Amino acid sequence: MKNSVLIGVVAVAVAAAAIVGVNAVKHQKPVDQPTTTKPISSSYYSEENTSESTSESTAPSLTQFSSSTSEITSESTSEQTSERESTTVLLSGPKTTTKAPVSTTTRRPSTTTRKPSTSVTPNTSSPTYINGILIVNKSYPLPQNYNPGVNSAAQSAFNTMQSAAAREGINLYIVSGFRSYSTQRDIYNNYVARDGKAAADRYSARPGHSEHQTGLAFDVNSLSQSFENTPEGRWLAANCYKYGFIIRFPKGKESITGYMYEPWHIRYLGTSTATSVYNSGLTLEEYLGVKSVYSY
Ligand code: DAL
Ligand code: ZN
Repeated sequence: MKNSVLIGVVAVAVAAAAIVGVNAVKHQKPVDQPTTTKPISSSYYSEENTSESTSESTAPSLTQFSSSTSEITSESTSEQTSERESTTVLLSGPKTTTKAPVSTTTRRPSTTTRKPSTSVTPNTSSPTYINGILIVNKSYPLPQNYNPGVNSAAQSAFNTMQSAAAREGINLYIVSGFRSYSTQRDIYNNYVARDGKAAADRYSARPGHSEHQTGLAFDVNSLSQSFENTPEGRWLAANCYKYGFIIRFPKGKESITGYMYEPWHIRYLGTSTATSVYNSGLTLEEYLGVKSVYSY
């Protein structure tokens, strides 16, 4: 009898131990779960990278050429954007130690190239003014339908200058003034056909990039660099600022203006600004703090 009771107690104890063991195994399974959550974590960071590149690619179009506002406004907006993006890096950085370098590496070139306003897709919706000065060069295009004709103030200033020059025995005359987008396109395409694109880009503006489309630029007398050493060329260089014009593409400044020396191409800025630019000895790009580089 005693033995059978003992056997019964042992049997119950074994059964209880077996039940506890099963439960112990059941509790172990959730401990393995983090292994399966790792890929979820990885895909989360991937999504974050995607959203960063999206904000990166949209930022330039928001900061550049949004309207006819001055470059001062555009540049400060651009800087604010950079600061905002830096903050994003700092916020997202601590989430993972491997992600931060990737983010920094991909972001740095864009920050560097955005500041001089050259890496932005050409805007075709509005002209760009900097401190009230219309800027048109390889970086700053005009819309295709920007078609003002010759500027009456510029024409009037040229006529005044022409009369003053004539009184000194200097004969100035316009050989090319306002040019529409389509006219510039035809001219440029002809030069490309003749000399090739790389050569043409050194002396002829692509359509939408010529100051002649502003109605504020004139080519005077001769499209030859030897014009520099004629009485007319010398008089123009020494006196045109008094009438509101500058020699727009000075000698030795191709890397800044984007174009070879053109002693014949004058740009109307008004007497005050032209005198200021003349006295500064700077190109218009340097004076305004901008580049002249095609982004396409
Ligand atoms: N020759 C100047 C750069 C123009 O084509 O406007
Ligand atoms: Zn010209």
